[in-house]
Amino acid sequence: MQNESIKYLDWNNSFDILSKAYQTGLFVIIIGPKGTGKTTLVRKFASTLDKKIHSVNFSLRTRESHLIGTKTIDKEGITFVEGVLVKSMKDDTLLYLDELNAAEPDMLLRLDEALDDRRQLVLKEAEGQIVKASQNWFVVATINPLSHIGTKELPPQLLSRFPIRLNLDYPPEDVEFEIVKEHVQMSHANIPYVKQTISLAKSLREAASIEELFYGPSLRETIAFAKFLETGLPPKLVAEIVFANAYIQWGEVEFRKVMDMITSIFK
Ligand SMILES: Nc1ncnc2c1ncn2[C@@H]1O[C@H](COP(=O)(O)OP(=O)(O)O)[C@@H](O)[C@H]1O
Ligand SMILES: [Mg+2]
Repeated sequence: MQNESIKYLDWNNSFDILSKAYQTGLFVIIIGPKGTGKTTLVRKFASTLDKKIHSVNFSLRTRESHLIGTKTIDKEGITFVEGVLVKSMKDDTLLYLDELNAAEPDMLLRLDEALDDRRQLVLKEAEGQIVKASQNWFVVATINPLSHIGTKELPPQLLSRFPIRLNLDYPPEDVEFEIVKEHVQMSHANIPYVKQTISLAKSLREAASIEELFYGPSLRETIAFAKFLETGLPPKLVAEIVFANAYIQWGEVEFRKVMDMITSIFK
């Protein structure tokens, strides 16, 4: 049931590579810009296996205590509350390390310890207790390309802990249309607008990649456009709301560039 609720179109065979990595016990790193389906792929994979996920999002300034655990005092005295990494190793879950290249150096050190071939962690926080990972412990990390704000280079020895590297970029336009179709029940009349908008999104991404614009939209936005268009608002207005208005934060000139593109598509 849960499996069916996660919609994922496996357009570049990533699912199979992830499955094979799991079978061989090799950890995976997914490299790609925001909104290309990294999280969705991993959630779909875990739910197919009926495997629980523990996630850590490093862009949220995650602290070491969140990963390892903390000592707390309650009526039973001092107890150690296990962090996400420790729980995941013990419970044999899938550990999802999102935006790993936004992590602070102290976190990377502890991860490096857990991810080496011994797959164990010495808890200096809990009297030197040794945590050993269970048999089917699996780790998947994601990183954004270095052009993204807040991203640092991943230290080479940590990168080497993830020998399976999946590259997840934006899909070709026809595939993106199929993905949007998975999420939105489109009325017949809106289909051409959605296709044109996917082209627009592609142009905006290209412009962003050569720094002609400050921002490139992701699949989240093309899906949102198709969804909002179904409310009956005119396509030009929906494109303005979903795409152009995002650029106002960089000023009028930036907004105009995008609005001109929209006007040339939707009269
Ligand atoms: N291949 C795909 N099949 C179905 N939906 C997808 C696919 N790729 C992206 N999406 C959708 O695009 C949006 C962004 O995906 P997400 O997994 O959050 O991206 P990321 O983790 O790379 O930032 C989600 O709504 C997701 O469902
Ligand atoms: Mg994500």
